[in-house]
Amino acid sequence: MEQIGKDIVQAVQFLKEDGLVAIPTETVYGLAANAFSATAVAKIFAAKNRPSFNPLITHTHDVEQVKQYVQYMPEAALQLASAFWPGPLTLLLPKKDIIPDIVTAGSELVAVRIPKHPLTLELLQQLDFPLAAPSANPFGYISPTKAAHVEEQLGERIDYILDGGECKVGIESTIVGFEGDRVIVNRLGGASLEAIEELVGKERVSVHAKVEENMNPKAPGMLKSHYAPGKKVLIGNISDLLNHYNKEEIAIITLKDYYPQISNDRQVALSVSGDLNEAAQRLFSALRELDKLPVKFILAELMPEYGLGKAINDRLMRAAADKE
Ligand code: TXA
Ligand code: MG
Repeated sequence: MEQIGKDIVQAVQFLKEDGLVAIPTETVYGLAANAFSATAVAKIFAAKNRPSFNPLITHTHDVEQVKQYVQYMPEAALQLASAFWPGPLTLLLPKKDIIPDIVTAGSELVAVRIPKHPLTLELLQQLDFPLAAPSANPFGYISPTKAAHVEEQLGERIDYILDGGECKVGIESTIVGFEGDRVIVNRLGGASLEAIEELVGKERVSVHAKVEENMNPKAPGMLKSHYAPGKKVLIGNISDLLNHYNKEEIAIITLKDYYPQISNDRQVALSVSGDLNEAAQRLFSALRELDKLPVKFILAELMPEYGLGKAINDRLMRAAADKE
C-alpha cells in the first residue's frame, strides 16, 4: 500500500485501530488520532517528541459533535463558531470527562476546531469520535503545509498520510479562550484579529500571545522558540542586514522585494503583490526550502502589522528566538 494518498476508507480504518494519520487542513497538516482514546493520543506525543505538558487541538465536522464533549459554549463562542467554522479558529472550552486528560495535558479546557478542508471534513463525518491533532512536525520545527513535508520528517512514524494538496491558509489557527464576556486571543493565526474584533467588539478582545510573554513553559505550548528552522533566523531591515553579513552565508525572505546582489535561489519574496494572505500561505514552505540551503543565516523582514501580517510576524519572531 502507498503510504500517501487520498484513500479515506484506509484512513478511517487506521484511526479506528488507534493508528496515526496525517490530515490536511486549510492551516497546516495535522498528525491525527482518536481523541477519545488515550492509547491513540499517546502515540502522537511519541511520534512528535512532544512534551506531555503541551495539549492538543481536537477536530470535528460540526458544532453538534463539539457540544457532546464540552460542558457549554459561551455566547461569544457560539458567535465565533458560526462566523468562522469551518475555518482557522480554535476555541478553548470546558471539557467533559469523555476527553482523556492526556489530550488537554490535565487542563479543564479542551481546544476545539472545525477545519476547512473537503477531504478532512469527509473523513471526520465518517468517524464517531473527534480527532486530536497537533501540527504534523517534530516538536519545535516548522509546521508542514504539504504532504511531502510530513513524509520527509515523520513518514516512518505514521500509518498513513492523507494528501489534500497544499494548505491554503498556511499558518496555524488563531486560538481564543473566554473569561467572563471577554475573548482572549492566545495565539495569533489564520483568523485575523481584526475579523474577530469586528465580530465581538474590539473592547471585548485582548491579546495574550506576545513572544516575550511566552517564556513560561507552564503556559502550555507557549515555548518561545517554536516554528524554528535549523538555520539561525535574523529579523530586521534587509538592506541593513546585508551590510553586516557575508553574502555567501545568507538566504533572505522578504514580503515583495528582490535583491539583485543575492542569487535568486537564495531569496524568497512571499508575495510580489504584497498580499499578506499569499505571504502566509507560502511562509513555512519558504522557510523549509531556505533551511536546506548551504547557508548559515536566514534574514527576514517583518510584515505590515495588519491582517495575517501580525500572525506571520509572530511566527518569524519565534523562528528567530534562541532555542531553549
Ligand atoms: O491550525 C492548527 O491549529 C493546527 C491544525 C492541525 O489544526 N494545529 C496546531 O496544533 O497548530 P499544535 O498542537 O501545533 O498547536 C496547538 C496549540 C499549542 O500551542 C497548545 O498549547 C494549544 O494549542 N492548546 C491546545 N489545547 C489547549 C488547551 N486546552 N489550553 C491551552 N492551550 C491549548
Ligand atoms: Mg505545532
